[in-house]
Amino acid sequence: MFDVQKVREDFPILQQEIYGKPFVYFDNGATTQKPRVVLDTITRLYEIENSNIHRGVHHLSTVTTENYEEARKIIARYFHVENEKEIVYTHGTTDSINLVAFSFGEKFIHEGDEIILTEMEHHANIVPWQMLCERKKAHIKVWKMDDTGCLKLDDLVNLITEKTKLIGVTQVSNVLGTVNPVKEITQIAHKHEVPILIDGAQGAQHVPTDLSGIDCDFYAFSGHKIYGPTGIGVLYAKTKWLEEMPPYQGGGDMILSVTFDHTEYLEAPFKFEAGTTNYIGAIGLGAAIQYLRNIGLKEVFEYEDQLLAYATEKVKEIPGLRIYGEAPRKVSILSFLIDGINAYDTGLILDKLGVAVRTGHHCAQPVADHFGIAGTVRASFSFYNTFEEVDHFVAGLHRVVEMFQ
Ligand code: ALA
Repeated sequence: MFDVQKVREDFPILQQEIYGKPFVYFDNGATTQKPRVVLDTITRLYEIENSNIHRGVHHLSTVTTENYEEARKIIARYFHVENEKEIVYTHGTTDSINLVAFSFGEKFIHEGDEIILTEMEHHANIVPWQMLCERKKAHIKVWKMDDTGCLKLDDLVNLITEKTKLIGVTQVSNVLGTVNPVKEITQIAHKHEVPILIDGAQGAQHVPTDLSGIDCDFYAFSGHKIYGPTGIGVLYAKTKWLEEMPPYQGGGDMILSVTFDHTEYLEAPFKFEAGTTNYIGAIGLGAAIQYLRNIGLKEVFEYEDQLLAYATEKVKEIPGLRIYGEAPRKVSILSFLIDGINAYDTGLILDKLGVAVRTGHHCAQPVADHFGIAGTVRASFSFYNTFEEVDHFVAGLHRVVEMFQ
């Protein structure tokens, strides 16, 4: 049985009050809070184990290197990746996508080529491709969504041409909460021999993600959104791409040998991990993922689904409230506006009641443009949130409506 009160004890930050009110954290789409085990791991590393990886023969360097590589295995297992060498440490989702856009993009995208992106992408999965397209005189084609926030697979089929060189799709929309059918999308991409990149920033922590089953070419996610530290993330890429792609950055730790005439690179993933990486972040991320597994992924995901369903029903009580994102399969995210009330004002009043939500375009302006709005209020949930917190939030929305009437 999933015991939310017990789980909450693992998160010190949740124990505080804001403005004298119990702290209700519904901004998990922006970043998640960290369990004690992650905080303790980071403290332990800095207090007694800190030493740079892959560089020393001495004891602490060896221990840290082992922990760094063990975390890679934990991450690989979580995503059902058999070969942990397909896990490349980066600074986060944005960094992972930029890596692909530069490395894969420079080698495989040419003038006149096309990249298909969905209308619901975060800017992190738009801007790097725009920059590449400017350099290469290539083009972006937009796979539109409908007004519920769903993509139609037939529309993708119609967009693919012999010039399509990559498809980029988010696993879960950070504004609408839509869970996209990434396995089916990958099958279509591969039927047309097009590689696919999945932005897992909002998916990795909320839906079971079996990358060997999905069979995508690239998958990116951020550590801080899955209960790990900031500044660490992962790019998963198939070995065939990692072997063919040139390094993204040059420097220490990614080389086999260097002379002024020539440099030989290490194999992947090290070829893509130049300089001193965020090894403490990587080990902290391993601890976060292990923590999640220890609670029970099935229990966590089911509970989050129940919480979203409950919140979705409850906010319908609010007069004049419109939900943005009504896909049949959604997770964690509830975006909305109340008639005649600015998102920012709603967010400010909720804040004064101790409830943290995000307002604005959420770094996905094309989504706001689709609906002809400037942005939304977004409540995003995690397994450490409670049904009582949802009630408190909905009571807060009633207050907002009263104040503006
Ligand atoms: N991408 C993060 C969000 O959706 C910051 O809030």
